[in-house]
Amino acid sequence: MSPTELDTQAPPFAEPHVADQTADVALIVNGRALRLVIDPRVTLLDALREHLQLTGTKKGCDHGQCGACTVHVGGRRVLSCLTLAAAAQGQSITTIEGLAESDRLHPMQQAFIDCDGFQCGYCTAGQIMSAVALLQEPCGPDDDDVRESMSGNICRCGAYPGIVAAVQAVRGRRR
Ligand code: FES
Ligand code: FES
Repeated sequence: MSPTELDTQAPPFAEPHVADQTADVALIVNGRALRLVIDPRVTLLDALREHLQLTGTKKGCDHGQCGACTVHVGGRRVLSCLTLAAAAQGQSITTIEGLAESDRLHPMQQAFIDCDGFQCGYCTAGQIMSAVALLQEPCGPDDDDVRESMSGNICRCGAYPGIVAAVQAVRGRRR
């Protein structure tokens, strides 16, 4: 059979195959061991918000461009909208809900309040999660170094001066 004959006998369009699968995902979220049975395509952001009702982590762009969805995975900041929940299998996740100790805010949360580091607050969880991670990262001493390290977190309200002041206050570099 020639290739031409093959072509004429082939159906015009192949039926898309939709996999009917679930992933069994074990996560440690804010110190609690949890298990989710979810579609393997579910992002960590949607797993947190839709399946675990941890809605402090915000969905801004859902495309890795705003930083609103920042959480910690294994102690490092990640964009949860670009991370599959299944890819975080077995990992320790910290969200904004896990930062405070009982009724005592994390120093970065308190600094954001003290320094007016927010207006509408939509970006704030992501800003604070990035800022807390920054404390463990190599970052120069100056405000410009902080701006560079925080550049993945967009604030539409323009609260940047207060955000930088808050980070510098916690780092002991009050301006
Ligand atoms: S929602 Fe993840 S970067 Fe914007
Ligand atoms: S405080 Fe409104 S977007 Fe940052």
